[in-house]
Amino acid sequence: MATSWVEGCVVSKRHWTDELFSLQINAPVEPYQAGQFTRLAADIGGERIARPYSYVNPPDQRPLEFYFITVPDGPLTSHMVGLEAGDKLWVQARPAGFFTLDEVPDAEYLWLLCTGTALGVFLAILKSEQPWRRFSRVVLAHGVRSAPELAYRDTIAEIQAQHGDQFRMISLVSREDSECSIRGRITHAIEDGRLEAIAAAPINAEQAQVMICGNPDMVRDTTALLEQRGMSKNRRSKPGHITIERYW
Ligand SMILES: Cc1cc2nc3c(=O)[nH]c(=O)nc-3n(C[C@H](O)[C@H](O)[C@H](O)COP(=O)(O)OP(=O)(O)OC[C@H]3O[C@@H](n4cnc5c(N)ncnc54)[C@H](O)[C@@H]3O)c2cc1C
Ligand SMILES: NC(=O)c1ccc[n+]([C@@H]2O[C@H](COP(=O)([O-])OP(=O)(O)OC[C@H]3O[C@@H](n4cnc5c(N)ncnc54)[C@H](OP(=O)(O)O)[C@@H]3O)[C@@H](O)[C@H]2O)c1
Repeated sequence: MATSWVEGCVVSKRHWTDELFSLQINAPVEPYQAGQFTRLAADIGGERIARPYSYVNPPDQRPLEFYFITVPDGPLTSHMVGLEAGDKLWVQARPAGFFTLDEVPDAEYLWLLCTGTALGVFLAILKSEQPWRRFSRVVLAHGVRSAPELAYRDTIAEIQAQHGDQFRMISLVSREDSECSIRGRITHAIEDGRLEAIAAAPINAEQAQVMICGNPDMVRDTTALLEQRGMSKNRRSKPGHITIERYW
């Protein structure tokens, strides 16, 4: 099916670090579910360069929001980082993807594990109603290299204030010590039990569902760890406990 592009207009840009930034965009896109993505594109050197990006804003909020890392020599992110309010870009009207809570079976605990910019997809999910209706505790774990990359702290604080003890946020910083964060990778903190201890919630096949998003090596290694615990990937034909999305 041919892609249906609509024109988007940048409303605002926020820089979190030299490499990390967010764009707010107005565009007449079709309805979507929290967890889905669309494609953004720009005409560069006579060619339309398009890449998938997860919606950060929940479906009922506007403007649209996207969270990026500027990839060195990355054609689209190198262009996006130069956009300012009033600039135009292309947005695919139709949403895509199955990384949504509709694909996740019920459980007592919902774990949302991410690295880097994949935090964004979970903010959309956390700002929607479904997780709070369906799970007794929701745990977000966000792994980054250095503390300044722990973006959206204000949004996470709002979610914490709104949902209290039903929500636990755990940040992990792998390459430096940082106050209020675990030092290390998500995989390390699962293996040594720190993640479950801090969240006061288990990661097991009996009580938990786990969504994992971001760095493909993290997704692979985390999935392997959970499989060792008897958890399995969710398939429509055979429900399991692990739902994944890789960003590259
Ligand atoms: C379903 C899906 C959703 C995505 N959502 C987002 C999103 O919300 N935000 C976002 O920044 N990216 C997201 N991506 C990645 C995005 O589509 C592009 O790959 C990325 O922006 C690089 O594009 P580029 O043209 O600048 O560089 P490319 O030349 O396409 O660079 C690709 C390389 O950049 C690196 N890379 C790509 N994405 C990331 C990332 N997010 N973090 C760290 N390194 C990365 C990898 O090494 C990859 O091989 C998503 C990808 C998928 C498949
Ligand atoms: N973040 C930056 O400041 C920066 C700057 C310039 C360019 N870039 C480029 O951006 C891309 C990715 O950067 P990023 O910082 O967003 O993401 P990243 O490299 O995916 O790192 C995010 C977090 O994931 C962890 N991780 C990596 N592999 C893992 C695995 N197998 N299991 C568990 N955890 C794992 C990292 O730990 P470790 O630290 O232990 O690897 C880090 O804590 C790279 O191409 C990089 O060169 C990043």
